[in-house]
Amino acid sequence: MSAISIRQVAKSYAKSAVVHGVDLEIESGEFVVILGPSGCGKSTLLRMIAGLEAITSGEIAIGTQIVNKLEPRERGCAMVFQNYALYPHMSVAENIGYALKVAGVSKAERRRRVEAVAATVGLSDTLDRKPAALSGGQRQRVAMGRAMIREPKIFLFDEPLSNLDAILRVGMRAEIRRLHRRLGTTSVFVTHDQVEAMTLADRLVVMRAGRIEQVGTPAEVYDRPATRFVASFIGAPPMNLMDGTLEPGDAFRLACGRQLALAPGMRVGFGAGRVAFGIRPEHVVLTRPGAPGSLDANVDFIEELGASRVVYAEFGGIAFATVVPPEALVRTGDPIGLLLPAQHLHAFDAETGRRIQPADRRIPQAA
Ligand SMILES: Nc1ncnc2c1ncn2[C@@H]1O[C@H](COP(=O)(O)OP(=O)(O)OP(=O)(O)O)[C@@H](O)[C@H]1O
Ligand SMILES: [Mg+2]
Repeated sequence: MSAISIRQVAKSYAKSAVVHGVDLEIESGEFVVILGPSGCGKSTLLRMIAGLEAITSGEIAIGTQIVNKLEPRERGCAMVFQNYALYPHMSVAENIGYALKVAGVSKAERRRRVEAVAATVGLSDTLDRKPAALSGGQRQRVAMGRAMIREPKIFLFDEPLSNLDAILRVGMRAEIRRLHRRLGTTSVFVTHDQVEAMTLADRLVVMRAGRIEQVGTPAEVYDRPATRFVASFIGAPPMNLMDGTLEPGDAFRLACGRQLALAPGMRVGFGAGRVAFGIRPEHVVLTRPGAPGSLDANVDFIEELGASRVVYAEFGGIAFATVVPPEALVRTGDPIGLLLPAQHLHAFDAETGRRIQPADRRIPQAA
């Protein structure tokens, strides 16, 4: 039995559909991250699970129970938002324990549970302070503590780290991960930050325009993106994508007119037709211009990332990125050759954007 079943769930506002028939099963104890660009329907989907937003059609079950008509408080979910809106006049302890107070839990019992939760989120020393006297990260932890104290079956997070500075985000990310390992509570976490998504998720759900494009582990999604959109959305710098036409024989003609001789393993099983080839910047091999099979270009600019360098060369109308080690001797303006190893190439259908599976690749046998 899944912890959360989302079946053909759709949402429309007035006449405009923003979520189109989404299906998703979330297992008990899983940490699922929903990732996608702004406006793709992530928050809407999360809010429908929480019961904060009505479902236009379809069904959501939590455990065995269909919750479409249940009030938010009857669903056993606790939600943590980007804007966590703590009560400013209450202390940290009162903020964390508020839900218990409302529920009529005794003062002694409340104190005990607040202290336990505060210890878990590292706020034991700040229990008497007001939110105004806390850092952003500490406030975010109060919001987490406030959600945890209800001992929910499910945690729902909507971009809870977006208001924090970069260093704090990394720290809180690790804390959320540790907390999940300790508590094992089923969690759904929404973000548009791909690094956050990759590092937190047991399973990643990539959404686009109200639809799920791919569900998989971070490694599966990175290594075998199901669509061109996923390929370009995940990874920094993003995957290099080349549009062109497979011509009879061994040639791939790029949109700019340049031609690429295909190694046998690169051939895709259509004979001819429009496709997009993709290759991740870390898989491109820098070589000398004129080397057998290389694409020749000049270096446009280089990004120095410390642990690596990203070399950009205009090629086929795109800024083609190649990741090289910091010690690589290459400068702006240098003529270079780029090799695209066949085993690292991805191919996408030009019309549908869908991945062309290697099973579809018929590598010609020697006659
Ligand atoms: N109350 C509403 N009435 C009409 N349209 C809405 C309403 N709430 C959201 N939308 C629209 O639904 C779409 C999905 O919104 P949603 O908030 O789910 O996006 P999101 O993926 O969470 O984006 P972000 O990353 O910016 O938070 C958007 O186009 C948004 O404009
Ligand atoms: Mg949102």
